[in-house]
Amino acid sequence: MVRVFFIIFAICGLIACGVDDTTMKIAGDKNAASALSIARANGCMNCHNVNNSIIGPAWSLVSERYKDSPDARAYLIEKVKLGGNGAWNDITGGAKMPPHEKRVSHAHIAQIVDFILALKK
Ligand code: HEC
Repeated sequence: MVRVFFIIFAICGLIACGVDDTTMKIAGDKNAASALSIARANGCMNCHNVNNSIIGPAWSLVSERYKDSPDARAYLIEKVKLGGNGAWNDITGGAKMPPHEKRVSHAHIAQIVDFILALKK
């Protein structure tokens, strides 16, 4: 029941965010749906989208960039905790990501980062 709720919640959110069919397929995966719900609940989707760069880079681009990097998981968790800019200036015009370590748990950040990295695997 909780699982069904998660998926419905994720799909409603995806429609509201204007996410396309590829992402709707991701929403059929329970772990991905849960990661997206957490991302939405923590405001990530105000600046990010899976397929389009808005304020921050599209998560599909992030996944593509780091797909062969073994250190990416630890690096990205740290980056989301501390925030900052510089890695995506060509797309963002130098916009900064705010720090999240005080508001979002390590476990939740790790779950979202795993979801992002899995997009291009
Ligand atoms: C206020 C807007 C904003 C919010 C909210 C936000 N981000 Fe970001 N995010 C950015 C920007 C801007 C960048 C580009 C940073 C850079 O150029 O180094 C970014 C970059 C990233 C990257 C790539 C980092 C890198 O160095 O390659 C990841 C992963 C990421 N964000 C995940 C998240 C997650 C997870 C959340 C929610 C917990 C989140 N973001 C919330 C704006 C935001």
